[in-house]
Amino acid sequence: MTAAQDWFVFWRSMVDNPARIGAVLPSSPRLGQRMARQVRLLPGEVLVEIGAGTGVVTQALLEEADVLPERLYIVELDPRLAAHLRERFPRCHVLEGNAADLPALLGEELIGKVGTVVSSLPIRPMSRAVQRSIVDASFAVLKPGGSLLQYTYPPLCPLPAEEFGLVAEGLGRTWRNLPPAAVWRFTRA
Ligand SMILES: C[S@@+](CC[C@H](N)C(=O)[O-])C[C@H]1O[C@@H](n2cnc3c(N)ncnc32)[C@H](O)[C@@H]1O
Repeated sequence: MTAAQDWFVFWRSMVDNPARIGAVLPSSPRLGQRMARQVRLLPGEVLVEIGAGTGVVTQALLEEADVLPERLYIVELDPRLAAHLRERFPRCHVLEGNAADLPALLGEELIGKVGTVVSSLPIRPMSRAVQRSIVDASFAVLKPGGSLLQYTYPPLCPLPAEEFGLVAEGLGRTWRNLPPAAVWRFTRA
């Protein structure tokens, strides 16, 4: 899969639904690496990525975080991008659906086995109700003490952490992304 193919499939989905995609370009590999370096997968755990798009962060999770593809569950709402992810990562579990339905998408046996949820969702412009449904769904599948990683473009925390009962930690900004992006970690207060 070439970068040009990635851009083409991303661009077609972006034209169809710009609000859902929430970016004009796929993430840079550098941003993917910054996210992946925050992930430590313990024995028996699985990793979940939500809003995977073309799979730039997915690729970094496999390479930088050394995650076996069989332990990576990827959720993507856009059917075209989900098909692209299936083709690009045939050994990962690609789940086409809404991140707000994470417990149902993953199934009962994986609940509490998720160490980290890695999110590329355009979460900041979403309504409070939608943000809350995605945060609640993520923490419903996370193990106790598990965390939600999220990147965002503006220099502000992307979620109302206190209102949602979360502790937010800024993990730095990547300038080599268009636009530059900051990575945040959220845990339950
Ligand atoms: C900014 S793009 C992701 C970019 C990705 N990191 C890449 O490099 O291609 C956000 C993605 O989230 C997906 N998305 C938006 N809302 C979603 C939801 N509720 N559940 C799952 N995926 C969603 C979009 O379809 C889009 O692919």
